[in-house]
Amino acid sequence: MSESVRVMLPEEKVNQRIAELGEEISKEFAGEPVHLICILKGSVFFTCELAKRITVPVTMDFMTVSSYGSGTTSSGNVKIKKDLDEDIAGKNVVVIEDIIDTGRTLACLLEILKERNPKKLKLCTLLDKPDRRIADVSVDYTGFVIPDEFVVGYGLDYDQRYRNLPYVGVLDLG
Ligand code: XMP
Ligand code: MG
Repeated sequence: MSESVRVMLPEEKVNQRIAELGEEISKEFAGEPVHLICILKGSVFFTCELAKRITVPVTMDFMTVSSYGSGTTSSGNVKIKKDLDEDIAGKNVVVIEDIIDTGRTLACLLEILKERNPKKLKLCTLLDKPDRRIADVSVDYTGFVIPDEFVVGYGLDYDQRYRNLPYVGVLDLG
């Protein structure tokens, strides 16, 4: 009985896709600055890699919202644990998520951010698990659509571990 991780998306594939997303975002904002909101902690690796691939001026801020605890199912109760440092009014905001699962976290968060009057509010996720969607969220930029399996690595954790894996893998609890 031991945990193991099976590679689902190798490092090169993830980084290649992130480069494409960076190009797409740069084209869409065509010379205008973008303000990236990294949802801690899972999106840190993705946000850093993506930011390096965006060619329009980039600013970044960080937010922590309540998500899964040590288990693998959604609490469905979203709270801001650490708010943004800067005002987003009038900015081209791109919210960066690691994964959208039920969509509850993002649906709630986007409502909160909309009230702060950004110029644009876009959503970018590295991974999308549409099979488990409950809340209706429209995603503007998606890295990969994946099946309903619990994944770790590239920022994603199981009980705070495995975030540093350079690839996305499926956790087998043994
Ligand atoms: P919802 O269900 O609100 O959840 O869309 C989004 C958040 O849930 C976490 N999550 C995962 N974390 N592997 C993880 O490490 C997974 O397969 C997984 N699925 C959901 C994640 O924190 C995300 O922001
Ligand atoms: Mg997590």
